Amino acid sequence: MPADPASAARILRPTLAEIRLSAVRGNLKKLKSMAAPARLLFVVKANAYGHGALELARLAEREGLAWGFGVSSVEEGLALRAAGIAGPVLVLGSLYPFESFVEAINAGLLVTIASLDAARQVIEAARKLGVTASCHIKLETGMGRIGARKPAVLKIYDELSSSGAVSVAGLYTHLSSADTDPDYTSAQLSIFRETAAELAARGARGLLLHTANSCAALTRPDSRLDLVRCGIAAYGLAEGFAPVMSLKSSIVFIKNVREGAYISYNKSFRADRPMKIATIPVGYGDGYIRRFSNKADVLIGGTRCRVLGNVTMDMTMADVTAVKDAAVGSEAVLLGRQGAQEVTAQELAGLAGTITYEIVTLISARVPRVYLE
Ligand SMILES: Cc1ncc(COP(=O)(O)O)c(C=O)c1O
Repeated sequence: MPADPASAARILRPTLAEIRLSAVRGNLKKLKSMAAPARLLFVVKANAYGHGALELARLAEREGLAWGFGVSSVEEGLALRAAGIAGPVLVLGSLYPFESFVEAINAGLLVTIASLDAARQVIEAARKLGVTASCHIKLETGMGRIGARKPAVLKIYDELSSSGAVSVAGLYTHLSSADTDPDYTSAQLSIFRETAAELAARGARGLLLHTANSCAALTRPDSRLDLVRCGIAAYGLAEGFAPVMSLKSSIVFIKNVREGAYISYNKSFRADRPMKIATIPVGYGDGYIRRFSNKADVLIGGTRCRVLGNVTMDMTMADVTAVKDAAVGSEAVLLGRQGAQEVTAQELAGLAGTITYEIVTLISARVPRVYLE
């Protein structure tokens, strides 16, 4: 069912992303029980990696499947609040420019503090509003993105905790290579533990400590601590989890071509025999990227059909010579299952030289998300 029933009538083009809520539910339950007693921060940034942040956060909150949510920006956090999400929302990104602290505090978002400068700004914003803001401090342990090193974290903690305006609710770091480098991960974790111990020695009590993304949560029990911040496994793109998104369309045009015919821009495909070719209304404007040209398969009539020629902005051609009953209106599955066949995000990522995160996150806003129970 579409999230907004009124939107059903507006889905006229046959291209859509189906989001299986039962798969999300199953994945979150599995993560939750596996991580316990650590609690689950469901990472729904970037529109839940393309799956629809508002719907999935609502589901998780309604069914008690997550302790809270991770977003990348104040804007994403405000969108969750506007959608009725009441639970903890941690803004994982830097809150630059700093005026956004006011908005974040007003909406009760947990802000990330990754520098002394930001700590001073959040204190000022909280004082101006006359409320107590709540934050998590981000420690740099080897990701090299945002985060303060240990000595700065201690200073930040001291300033925040003595301000009376900001409560420090957590300390966290991000592991850069949990999936590829266990020793580096161990080194990151040990810097984290040392820093947490120093904060405890300074009187810090009850801080939520967290380091784990999906991969670490699944493979490194020593990384779980108080919270695990999981995204990709919830979307079914880690081993043992059920994929959530399918990208589907239908054939809108079909033709027979003779040997020697070229297909699509720049003649990158030439028919070496008479062929039957389908046109599908999906292209890089939908996030079905040009790297799939002449490489990816589309499922039509339960058969793998190769993409022919360059993927264009709005349309993609596929070889349906072997699919006798392929016709205008036949379903085309670009990501997901059809009959016994499946095109996985892993397969598409491999073809494009990227990661599954990018395959699903790139599915663009013009593709309607349809939520299936
Ligand atoms: C700070 C932070 N924590 C957690 C995650 C979730 O990672 P994953 O999707 O690998 O579970 C991300 C995602 O990139 C992140 O940036």
